[in-house]
Amino acid sequence: MDKEDLESYLEAGRIGRDVREWSRSLIKPGSSLLELADRIESRIRDSGSGIAFPVNVCLNDITAHYAPKFNDDSVIQKDDVVTVDLGVHVDGFISDTAYTVDLSGKYKELLKVNQEALGEAIELIAPGVSVSEIGATVQKIMTDAGFKPIENLTGHEIKQYSLHAGLSVPNIKVPYDWRIKEGMVLAVEPFATNGVGRVMESQHAEIYSILEEKPVRMREARILLKALSERRKLPFAKRWFAEKINPMRLELVLREMASAGVLKKHPTLRERGGGIVSQFEHTMIVTSDGCEVTTL
Ligand code: CO
Repeated sequence: MDKEDLESYLEAGRIGRDVREWSRSLIKPGSSLLELADRIESRIRDSGSGIAFPVNVCLNDITAHYAPKFNDDSVIQKDDVVTVDLGVHVDGFISDTAYTVDLSGKYKELLKVNQEALGEAIELIAPGVSVSEIGATVQKIMTDAGFKPIENLTGHEIKQYSLHAGLSVPNIKVPYDWRIKEGMVLAVEPFATNGVGRVMESQHAEIYSILEEKPVRMREARILLKALSERRKLPFAKRWFAEKINPMRLELVLREMASAGVLKKHPTLRERGGGIVSQFEHTMIVTSDGCEVTTL
């Protein structure tokens, strides 16, 4: 990796870490999810970097891909388990980091085990290591403690302007032998649950990304593509357009663009058994003998 790219990855990592730590004080009963996501996204922008993907704010059994709606009125309750997953980019070089807060105090063990699993996975990351070994380690730590990893969500390789590129880093043992290479950038994100350990898609989506740029007919579709052009294929939230496009038209245009194969929809994911889910995530660059965590 050349020096400039490395610097950008490190800068994105530092900003991601700082915004993550700053955001912790906002997680309290009575906080509105919409305000929380807006404030975190503003903080990322104000730090001179870009938003790599809409801030995900997930409660309890909501596992991933939830971004508040433009008129979201949900408020954090006193017993909620709250996960924040945020992404920063500097010229397309991304950091991705997440944490969970347990306001109830009932899931301390779940969160602790989840953090241990992430720590152990990071310890193992080095060139030549099989991703199945990482997954097996995460799985063992969680199952030994009586919990389960979410088996159908994985960590992922990152490339410039590409959030999910190439290698997956599973949270369970897998029957393939993909290996980690020096210079790879990885986001490692074990999810722990007291449920069944799988997520399912809900009907609802707040997050989309561009799949393939094709000519589009509707005027609003052109507005949307123009506004997104500098993000390339990085995901966006429906709510980002609620002021530019009438919400009913927006629904229509997103549906049309998705069915034309221009957009990919990222539906909200829930734990299949209704279990409580936690998530911890860091981004790292694989070095010759280990890795450097950019978001620490
Ligand atoms: Co993430």
